[in-house]
Amino acid sequence: MNYKKLFSEIAAELESLDDKGKVASYIPELGNVDPNKFGIHLTTVDNKNYSLGDSNEKFSIQSIAKVLSLALAFKLDDEKLWDRVGVEPSGTAFNSLVQLEYEKGIPRNPFINSGALVICDILVSRLENPKQDFIEFIRNISGNPNIDYCLKISESEKRTGFRNAALVNFMKAYGNIKNNVDIVLDFYFNLCSIEMSCKELAQAFLFLASNGVHPATHAEVVSVSKSKRINAIMQLCGFYDEAGEFSFKVGLPGKSGVGGGIIAIHPGKYSIAVWSPKLNKKGNSYKGMKVLEFLTSRTQSSIF
Ligand code: DON
Repeated sequence: MNYKKLFSEIAAELESLDDKGKVASYIPELGNVDPNKFGIHLTTVDNKNYSLGDSNEKFSIQSIAKVLSLALAFKLDDEKLWDRVGVEPSGTAFNSLVQLEYEKGIPRNPFINSGALVICDILVSRLENPKQDFIEFIRNISGNPNIDYCLKISESEKRTGFRNAALVNFMKAYGNIKNNVDIVLDFYFNLCSIEMSCKELAQAFLFLASNGVHPATHAEVVSVSKSKRINAIMQLCGFYDEAGEFSFKVGLPGKSGVGGGIIAIHPGKYSIAVWSPKLNKKGNSYKGMKVLEFLTSRTQSSIF
């Protein structure tokens, strides 16, 4: 498949598209990004790389990091984790509080903010030096020592993250947060602040396209069964109340972030990262979703 040519065709087609999205500004520091940035990077399981535009520029990966925190927590906590967080689509926004009360502090899935906070709590309990150990985990699985948190972004979110503070306190009241809420929140804000380029993302996530083993480093990140399950959760929950739409139009497991990034996986074939900061009303990259829709439509390949 000539992905390079395909990307140029997609970019040409998208030029005439009226991008209705808006850059996220509820985390003030995210509002400073150039809205016109646009990058794509695809890495195949046999390590062929195809890119376009700003694919080497780092950006805030935000909720995309929740897949990696789930991978590490699932590896360390095994099946126990599922007593504290579900695997069902929420049908609500990523930062919604409504389900938590009638579901007694058990979040629907690990990708909505409440679920990601529970995963952070597990990692805070399990890791000796949570922030250091987590970033080392990402560096190791991607074979890239050049990945880090961004203090400016994490501090910016810490100053304005009142909904996340509400969620973590609410779950603490139900006994589903074991550690000090400020420590859990600090870990969560740092996790969301990680900066990576499309190329780094596509390469780091390749283990999910190859049964849990990273093809470049040969390291088993998670078992085959865990890799399969993480993809299943991405398929059903990666886009919050737009997960059905993403599945319908793109047909790949994927995960978005409010920094405008999206990672998508074609198991057995490739991982692809796209970045375009303007978000649609559901908080997912407007243009990024279009790119992936074009890609799977043109190639007539999805997991279905
Ligand atoms: O907690 C938040 O609101 C952000 N740090 C992450 C949200 C996010 O990326 C949702 N994804 N589309």
